Amino acid sequence: MKFLEQFASETSPSRVLLAKLWRRYALRKLSASDNHEGLQRLYALPDPWDMRSEREQARFVQTNALIEELMGPVGSVLEIGCGEGHQSKHLALLCDRLDGIDVSERAVLRARSRAPRCRFGVGEVSTLPWTLPDGERYDLVVACEVLYYMNDIEATLRAMSRQGRACLVTFFCPSARLVAPHLVNMPGVQRGWLFHDPYAWLWAYWRP
Ligand SMILES: C[S@@+](CC[C@H](N)C(=O)[O-])C[C@H]1O[C@@H](n2cnc3c(N)ncnc32)[C@H](O)[C@@H]1O
Repeated sequence: MKFLEQFASETSPSRVLLAKLWRRYALRKLSASDNHEGLQRLYALPDPWDMRSEREQARFVQTNALIEELMGPVGSVLEIGCGEGHQSKHLALLCDRLDGIDVSERAVLRARSRAPRCRFGVGEVSTLPWTLPDGERYDLVVACEVLYYMNDIEATLRAMSRQGRACLVTFFCPSARLVAPHLVNMPGVQRGWLFHDPYAWLWAYWRP
């Protein structure tokens, strides 16, 4: 596994191609499956989703702009599925405090060094790795590009609504079939799109 880490840091065309093949192989059977072991294995290769790409960086910038438009400045944010902290670094620019959770320990270790001012832990939204003071909720709970890895999306949306005064989810268009049906009847939900041609993501925002 150490070998994959060293391997991924090199940028020769053959290595880039082999890294791509690893991603394709390791991403199989992760959809809607709660396959936490598979996600941890995937992170043997750093940045398995190519979060440094122009496409993902554009998504981070647009997600921040959306949050600013919907809420203005934010106090506390809980990020579900923080991965290696690529988006956390962006989200941290618009809030006073960011807590991130992920089911992959490897990802969480990398997130801690990428965004040292934020707090990260291994866990899920229904079992946070820390306790909040009695009755405290986050100003915003976000779940970006994570719901489609879960088996019980409804349970996660309910847990988000318990933990946050406001909630935002984004999901890549091809996953809309899995995610969107759970959001259409959410009371007071606002919905829209993010674009970075030719890519598109859906978003949904609600105040529980
Ligand atoms: C595609 S990455 C998205 C990372 C980041 N949210 C973003 O949008 O750039 C999905 C992340 O969700 C994590 N994940 C999947 N299921 C999860 C769950 N039930 N609870 C917390 N994290 C989860 C994965 O380990 C992975 O790091």
